[in-house]
Amino acid sequence: MAELDKARAEDMHFSDGRIISSMCTAPPPLSLKAHMDFIESNLGNSGLYPGTSQLEAQVIDQLGQLMNGTGISGHIVNGGTESNIMALWIARNTTGKKEVVFPESAHFSFAKACDLLDMKPVSVPLSDDLTIDIDKARRVINDRTAIVIGMAGTTELGLIDPLRELGELIPEGTFFHVDAAFGGFVIPFLKDLGHEMPDFDFKIPEVTSITIDPHKMGMSTMPSGAFLTRKIGASDNIATRAPYLTLLKQTTLSGTRCSAAVASTYAAMRNLGRVGYRQIVKNCMDTTYHAATRARELGLELVKEPVMNVLGIHLPEGKEPEQVQALLKQRGWMVSRVEDPKCIRLVVMPHVEKRHVDLLFKELEVVI
Ligand SMILES: Cc1ncc(COP(=O)(O)O)c(C=O)c1O
Repeated sequence: MAELDKARAEDMHFSDGRIISSMCTAPPPLSLKAHMDFIESNLGNSGLYPGTSQLEAQVIDQLGQLMNGTGISGHIVNGGTESNIMALWIARNTTGKKEVVFPESAHFSFAKACDLLDMKPVSVPLSDDLTIDIDKARRVINDRTAIVIGMAGTTELGLIDPLRELGELIPEGTFFHVDAAFGGFVIPFLKDLGHEMPDFDFKIPEVTSITIDPHKMGMSTMPSGAFLTRKIGASDNIATRAPYLTLLKQTTLSGTRCSAAVASTYAAMRNLGRVGYRQIVKNCMDTTYHAATRARELGLELVKEPVMNVLGIHLPEGKEPEQVQALLKQRGWMVSRVEDPKCIRLVVMPHVEKRHVDLLFKELEVVI
C-alpha cells in the first residue's frame, strides 16, 4: 500500500481543481459507492449477473429517452472510443461499404476505428463557424458511404454540427451516427435552462446511433460509455459466438467488461435526475463564462463564444500554446491545446470552480 500511495501522490487529482483539460471529473460519493458494490460484475459473461444485466437495460432505456428516442437498444461500454468503433463496425458489416464521412473536428477515435476496421476515412473540411461544411459534405456522401458522423459537442471546442441539414444528405440505408460523447449530458440541460440549442439526437429521423459517455458529464465512474441505436437487431451484425460463456453470443468489442460503472451510471442518474444535471451544467457554464471574462480582461480573444463548457483561447502573437501549456504544467496547472485553430483549451468540468479559474489566470498572465 505504501508503494501505491507513492504512485498516487505523483498523480494529479480532480479535487485539486487544477485539471482544466480533462473531459472526466470526480464522481459524486453515491456513484463511487454503487461502483464499489458492483465491482465483481462482468457483463461479458452476463448470465452470471442477471441483476446487473437488468440495470444495464434500464440505463440504456433511460439514456435513450434522454436522447428523445423510443425502443432504443445498446450497451454500456468502456467509453466514447469503443462506442464509436461499434458504430463503424455495425455500419460496415450491415452495408458492406467502407467509406466513413466525418468532419475534420471529429474525435481521433474515428481514425482509430477506420484503421482497425480497414475502412476509408473521408474527412470533410469545416466552414467558417468551425462546424462541418454542409456543401463539402454533400460532395463526398455517395453510394460508397457506409456511415456519416456528426458531432454534438466537439472535443476541442464543444461545437455542434448542423445535424438536421447533415441528416437530409443521408441516403437510404446509410448509417448516421452522432458523437455526443461529451454533449449528450450537456445539451439537453442547456435546453432546459433556456439556451437555444439545435436538435442533435433521435429527434432527427435519420440518426441511427449515438455515443454518449456517462463518465464525462454524466457523473458516473470510469469506464462508462454508451452506444445507443434505434436499429432493431443492428448489433447482430457484429455478434460473435461465445460458446464457453453463459451467453451464446457477444455483441460488444470488449469481452470481460468492468460493469461496476453500469451501477454507477444508474445511481448517478437516479440520484441527480434532470434537476441535478441541470444545476451541474448551469454551474459549469457560469464558471466557463467567468473564464471567458478573465481571458478578455487579459486582452485574450476567444476562438468562439462558448456553446458548452469548453473554451478555446487565442494567445497573443508570438506565444506558442505548447510552450504556455508546458510552463503552466510546471506550475501545477493542466490546460490543453488545439492545433487548428491554434489556441489553448479549457474544459470547465464540475470539479473546476471560479476560484480555480482566478488562480489559473493569475498564473497564465505571468506565463504569457
Ligand atoms: C466527442 C468525443 N468522442 C469520443 C471521445 C473518446 O472517448 P473516450 O476517451 O471515453 O474513449 C471523446 C473523448 O474526449 C470525445 O470528446
